[in-house]
Amino acid sequence: MMENMISSLWIIVLVTAIVFCIIFLCSKSKSKHSSLRSTPSSKTSCQLPLGTLGWPFVGETIEFISCACSDRPESFMDRRRRMYGKVFKSHIFGTPTIVSTDAEVSRFVLQSDAKAFVPFYPKSLTELMGKSSILLINGSLQRKIHGLVGSFFKSPHLKNQITRDMQSYVQQSMDKWRDDQPIFIQDETKNIAFQVLVKALISLNPGEEMKILKKLFQEFILGLMSFPVKVPGSQLYRSLQAKKGMVKIVHKIIQSKRNSGMISSTVPKDVVDVLLKDASELLTDDLIADNMIDMMIPGEDSVPVLMTLAIKYLSDYPAALHQLTGENMKLKRLKAQNGKPLVWSDYLSLPFTQSVITETLRMGNIIIGVMRKAMKNVEIKGYLIPKGWCVFAYFRSVHLDENHYDWPYQFNPWRWQNKDISSSYNFTPFGGGQRLCPGLDLARLETAIFLHHFVTNFRWVAKDDTIVHFPTVRMKKRMPIWVKRREDSW
Ligand code: HEM
Repeated sequence: MMENMISSLWIIVLVTAIVFCIIFLCSKSKSKHSSLRSTPSSKTSCQLPLGTLGWPFVGETIEFISCACSDRPESFMDRRRRMYGKVFKSHIFGTPTIVSTDAEVSRFVLQSDAKAFVPFYPKSLTELMGKSSILLINGSLQRKIHGLVGSFFKSPHLKNQITRDMQSYVQQSMDKWRDDQPIFIQDETKNIAFQVLVKALISLNPGEEMKILKKLFQEFILGLMSFPVKVPGSQLYRSLQAKKGMVKIVHKIIQSKRNSGMISSTVPKDVVDVLLKDASELLTDDLIADNMIDMMIPGEDSVPVLMTLAIKYLSDYPAALHQLTGENMKLKRLKAQNGKPLVWSDYLSLPFTQSVITETLRMGNIIIGVMRKAMKNVEIKGYLIPKGWCVFAYFRSVHLDENHYDWPYQFNPWRWQNKDISSSYNFTPFGGGQRLCPGLDLARLETAIFLHHFVTNFRWVAKDDTIVHFPTVRMKKRMPIWVKRREDSW
């Protein structure tokens, strides 16, 4: 029985690996062949990092994926780090790649501009995002959109709105929880975070249109990791159709905003307003509508996973839960005594809660790393990254390196107390440089609000579940828990 399961697992891993390789090989253009021949400039003293390119065509993809499917995805990196050092060469997903598990090298890559590195995504993803997506564009347009969106997400105005929306969606969701059936935290948080995100992007409220948008979005994301063939009946085709449907909804919203004639005179309510307000001709309605959908890609899954993992770790580490609950109960009591509602700065003022979120980000590695393609030969710390090769800045290995963190596999929020994380090389869950996640404040605020209402209203017992790491981080059984409403005030 066990042997059958193991061999079936291997078949799945192998088939997945082959499909991935085909996808990536199909997506390679002719330039790949010339880049494979690209040689270091004669002037450089730098060398290609050590390592191996593995088997013809598949490279080391099969081993990478089989490790990624295990409970120690970083074991692929660990083995090579021991043999070759923190930076090594490999061949994964159909492309020669320099893997960096070195915080300094990864930081250099993140800080570089588009003359040195550009984002690299699978072909199916680039097809779905379109050429003008913020995730793909470079140079001044990327900086402009990134700046506008980033400052809006940081604004107190939006934080107030997010707090009100989040409180109401959390309340509606938690009101339905009963103690005689399990609650699936992953589903609940996904539902809440999607509503908050869509409200922040396009001011759509829960209702029929939101349901349609959600259905279309679910079809859309199925195509992100699909075979890059756009024929009717294929997943990519269906996903592109779904995107068209979503873009139509956003166009309707843009039109009604334009017709109202209020855009220039009012404080922006959502990201569409922010981009419409910008006078630049580069920000066309088509670009704005497309980008609203593309921004849902990094925003939709990551925040609910962060909330779910926090609940998972707190369930496993009672001392951390005890301190977090104490801190949040104290705030709740204080607010009740003063007769004042909770505002966004209250949620962000809780140091231990923030440490729990930081530690969840470190251990959870929701985004394991980012990939870039070298536009020219680049030299970093004595290593050569040849033009046309990819760099995989693998954050997970840095976040779990015992040289940076004592007992790295222990959930220890106390390690963050009185630490400034803003300038740390060794902590980059939101990336860095010009593409630093503009949604990071939003993610932290939403998670703090969810945790506050969860721990102050419920006790719970978690059912057995495990973290899956591939192709994205999630809970295998959607994190089922049994809840009991609190009657005490701690
Ligand atoms: C726990 C939650 C989140 C995590 C861990 C996360 C992580 C990341 C990372 C690592 C990047 C850098 C990608 C790169 O360098 O190529 C990124 C970029 C981005 N994130 Fe997030 N993110 C989160 C939440 C959000 C949210 C809520 C939004 C809201 C829309 C968002 C929007 C974006 C956008 C638009 C980019 C691209 C920025 C650019 O290329 O200019 N993210 N995120």
